[in-house]
Amino acid sequence: MADLAGHQRVVAERVAILTGGGDCPGLNAVIRAVARRTFERGGEVVGVRGGWRGFLESELATLGPREVTGLLPRGGTILGTSRTNPYKIDGGVDRVLETFARERLDALVAIGGEDTLGVAARLYEEHEFPVVGVPKTIDNDLSATDYTFGFDTAVTICTEAIDRLHTTAESHNRVMVVEVMGRHTGWIAVMCGIAGGADAILIPEQPLPLSEVCAQLRSRHESGKDFSIVVVSEGYELEGLADQGEVDQFGHVRLGQRGVGDELARRIEQETGFETRVTVLGHVQRGGSPTARDRILATRYGLKAADLVRERRFGRMAALHGDEIVDVSLKEATAELKTVPAEWFDVARAFFG
Ligand code: F6P
Repeated sequence: MADLAGHQRVVAERVAILTGGGDCPGLNAVIRAVARRTFERGGEVVGVRGGWRGFLESELATLGPREVTGLLPRGGTILGTSRTNPYKIDGGVDRVLETFARERLDALVAIGGEDTLGVAARLYEEHEFPVVGVPKTIDNDLSATDYTFGFDTAVTICTEAIDRLHTTAESHNRVMVVEVMGRHTGWIAVMCGIAGGADAILIPEQPLPLSEVCAQLRSRHESGKDFSIVVVSEGYELEGLADQGEVDQFGHVRLGQRGVGDELARRIEQETGFETRVTVLGHVQRGGSPTARDRILATRYGLKAADLVRERRFGRMAALHGDEIVDVSLKEATAELKTVPAEWFDVARAFFG
């Protein structure tokens, strides 16, 4: 394009970024990496506020170098987030497309889990929307990538909590039930359970009869170890326990409201006679500064996403395969949940009882 004086003008690439779904440590590190690489190439970065809601309500703002300074260790997301689903709102998709065109955007980097990236995948498939994805979630349940960022921080927080619970469990000869997040998969539970040395771990993928868990606890206590740590995923199906409360725009119930930890503790105490307490770790798992591992992963994902935008390879998602950052199709990444394979559970099970 030439300006009025006839000089060739390079049109700056305008790259939008949004963060959707539950926040998680490392989101800001991705924003920083996408922005830094885009600036390096003379591009502009536009932040979309509150996930997909920002497109619906035209809440966008330019992010300059000042706005992306100091982000690496910062938890949460400077852009805000929501669980808004444009496909569940009348005229929602049209409003996303209109805002995108009106703001003269060239591409979107969507940072999210299965829901946010599911919308991105659909927009790409149905409207050739120029979007690339970055896999975020403490749950680590996205297919086509070995790890999502945020997961390592959550596991680290839970492991530290288990370490602390060990000392009080031992002092009082109690059973401590620890309820962790993870939605319908047991990644957080299995990994923090292995790292923290849990005596039993209950995950949705590997249901165990309560009588078996209690028998293990009893034999452990009889052998002289008269305290135990039991980790349970919030999504564990305990017989007779029903989902409660509202459903979000992606059809998810709030699993934390089911109170699986409380109910499990009550049943263990009833069946074994051992004094039992419960700790529900809740949103502490998503708060605060990312671990070094998550900062590095988030940074590598952010650079990859900016590169995919530059190469105009839309409909792709940055992913980790082994130690390598690769790209995979958004559709493939959001087609099904990545559950915990039996081999991982076997590692944990080797230390039960
Ligand atoms: O997906 C991340 C996650 O933290 C899940 O582990 C949990 O079930 C859910 O989000 C909690 O959502 P909210 O922050 O809306 O209560």
